[in-house]
Parts: sequence; structure tokens; C-alpha cells
Amino acid sequence: MESAFIKRCNEVRGTIEGFGNPLIVNHYDADGLAAGSLVAKALRNRGINYSMLTLRKLEYRSEMRDAGELIFVDFGGVEEALGDVLKGKKVVIIDHHQSSEGEILQANSQLFGFDGGSEISSSGTAYMVFRDAELVDLALVGAVGDMQFPLKSLNRKILREGIENGIVRCDIDLNIFGRMSRPLVWFLSYCTEPFLPGLTGNDGNCYRFLSETGIDFRKDGKWRRYFELDMEERIQLISALVAYLHSKGAGEAAKELIGEVYILAKQPEGSELRDAKEYSTLLNACGRHNRPEIGIRVCLGEEGAIEEARTLLNEHRKQLREGMFYAISNYEDFGKFYFLDGRGRIEDGVIGVVAGMLYGGALPGDKPIVGIAFDEEGKIKISARATRKLVDGGLNLGEALSKACSSIGVGGGHNIAAGATIERDKLNEFLLNFGRAL
Ligand code: C5P
Repeated sequence: MESAFIKRCNEVRGTIEGFGNPLIVNHYDADGLAAGSLVAKALRNRGINYSMLTLRKLEYRSEMRDAGELIFVDFGGVEEALGDVLKGKKVVIIDHHQSSEGEILQANSQLFGFDGGSEISSSGTAYMVFRDAELVDLALVGAVGDMQFPLKSLNRKILREGIENGIVRCDIDLNIFGRMSRPLVWFLSYCTEPFLPGLTGNDGNCYRFLSETGIDFRKDGKWRRYFELDMEERIQLISALVAYLHSKGAGEAAKELIGEVYILAKQPEGSELRDAKEYSTLLNACGRHNRPEIGIRVCLGEEGAIEEARTLLNEHRKQLREGMFYAISNYEDFGKFYFLDGRGRIEDGVIGVVAGMLYGGALPGDKPIVGIAFDEEGKIKISARATRKLVDGGLNLGEALSKACSSIGVGGGHNIAAGATIERDKLNEFLLNFGRAL
């Protein structure tokens, strides 16, 4: 099926290369921004003009009316939602959501037997369409942003190409957030994946913990960061963390500490953009806090963008940490699933991220979680998350949400992560429907 997928990707590239001035319409999360930017860069490489539109959810916009050519990126259900208004226009879709073939030409691995939740992202799909070697970094940033690690299947193929071309490195290391950019004390105190009991959220304890390890976490008047530690110091820190977590009964969290990390070798040492996870979090921060254009400017390498993105990142991490503390003591067990009512407490832009983070040690992975928050129109934004194990056992959240919302709203997504929006007064109906759909 891989060859059929690649053939389709080539066909989509051929169509796009015939465009004169397309509108790229991309989703606002990290994968959507990375994928949209990847398409933009590929068009630049080919000397094709373009404009861009980033959306939180797929809806009709006047820019679409004015465009003769459109490239939808990281949106499922384009044809169902916009088929009528797109008639007569030249349109292609680059996506990885659960989908079926329609009239519009679509590069989507789901149609060729690959799971878009774990085997390839929209950014990866965009890379497969254009295959410009230097764009592989964005393909991996998007995959990591969609929590598709460790990278396997088509993602792995893309990673291998990146390694062969000297653009990416893959190491096994401590894989918590901030290896490049966070001084060690805050590296630990801001760590929410996994949750480090006694350390997450407590700067003083992190300071004491690091002092006891004997590692110089301040040198020549400067706070040191993880990437600056030598191998011996890294091993010292990891061993101390593992022993500490076991002493706190958090052995599961200890298992999550080590994993593959993807280093973008062309980016400067110490920059967020050098680590795929930090890069994707930076993009998520931009998109989820209503400044997607900053994320795109970061991807396009525009001057000053990264400084603006950092401010949003700090706010994002703060919201995640606060949301996480609230979630840990307020989630409920609804029998078939866990429920997190974040209305008025957690922003709709981060509810899904917080819900997913609960699996990092705070929540047993025995059933899915549904988080809810108010969106900017006062409707209820639903984000559902599951574990890989549940999905391997047959769970499909995208289908479950789409069924549960069929008469009360719109919902869909991947088997492991899905979302929906419903009216305020439809919550009980949704919860009943969702329990049944599961
Ligand atoms: O919004 P949230 O982050 O929870 O969405 C999880 C996944 O579900 C995303 O990939 C999003 O594109 C998808 N989704 C969808 N249809 C919706 C809402 C979300 O396909 N109505």
C-alpha cells in the first residue's frame, strides 16, 4: 500500500505544481502549522506564489470564495463541510484524519491502510508530497506535535531520510520537555510529562534535589541546561530521577523518562528549534493562543518570530501546569471513561493537551478521558484522548465522537485523539451517547 500512497502523493504534487497562486488553508495546532508551513516552503522552492489561512475548525471563509485554487492541510471532512462552495475550484487535500475517497484529490495515508494517528502526520504527508530534503525537519516536528512518538512506519521512513541527509539526529536520552532551553531547576519543576511528584510545580524541591545529585547546575554565574551536561552528568541525573520516582511509588513515571529524542541538526545549539518536541510545543503555544501566524513565521525562519513565540510559550506552559494541577484533583470516573470538567478553569485551546497529559502518571491507562471547556462562543469544546494500548485493543475515539455527536454537533478525529463542539445544553445527551458509542 505504500507504493500506492506515494503514487498519490506524487499526483498531488503534480496538481499543485500546476497552481498559480493557491490559498493554503491549514489547521492551528502544531502539526497543522508545521504542515502548512512545509507546503508554503515547498511552493517557494518552486517559485509559486501563495497565501495562507489558519483555522481552528473547518468553516467557510470569504478568502475561500476569492481563491481559485486551494490546498487544505490537516483538515478531515473537507468535502462534507465545504463540498458545495468549492465546486468549480481547483482543490487538493493533504491530511491524515480518518477519511474516505471523494471527488477532491487527497493525499491521505488513511486511504492506503496507514493509521494517521500513529504512522504519519499531516506534516509527514506534506513532506511525502514534495520530498524536498531540507523540509524533513517540519515533517518530524508535526509528527511529534501530534504525539506520534516513537516514530514508526511512514514516520520512521521520513526520519531515516532526514538522518541520511544529515538534517536530523535520533538519540536515546532523557526525553522530558526543555532539554535545550530550560535551566535544570525549571526543566524539572515544569515537567508535566511525566508528572514528577514533589518536583513538578515546586522550584524549591527541584533546587534541593539537584543539589543532592552533586551536579553543577549553575556554572560561571549561569544556569545550566540539560544539553550542556556531559554524558556522566546526564547519567547521574537520570539515575537520581529514577531512584527518586521509585521512592515516591511513581515507577510508571520513571519508565517514561527515557526515549527517543529527535535533534534538528541544522538549527542552532540551545535553541528550542533544535529539539523536535520543543519546536512543536512552541508551535502549539502560538496556535492555541490565537497567534498561529507567529508559529508560521517561526517555521519560515523569519526574524524576530522566535522571540514573540517564546512569550506565548511561557504562557502556554503556565496554563498547562495550572490546568494539570486542577485536573489531577478534579477528574472523575464515569465508568466507561474519565471525565474532566474544565469549564471556566481550563482554556479550550489546551483542554485536550491537559487531558492527554494525565496519562503521564496521574491516571491509569485503563479507559479514555473526555475533557470539556467553553470555547470563545460559549459552546462546549470536547477533547477526548486515549492510550496506545486502548487503541490497539480496538478503541476508536474519532468514530465514537462522531457517532456521539451525530445529531447534536460536529466531532471526529483520530482513534487516539479526537474532538468535538456541541451546544451548552447538550452535554448530558453527549455523555450518554458517548458512553454508548464506546
Ligand atoms: O481539538 P482536539 O485537539 O481535542 O482534537 C483532537 C483531534 O481531533 C485533532 O486532530 C482534530 O483535528 C480532530 N478533530 C476533528 N473534528 C472535530 C474536532 C477535532 O477531526 N470536530
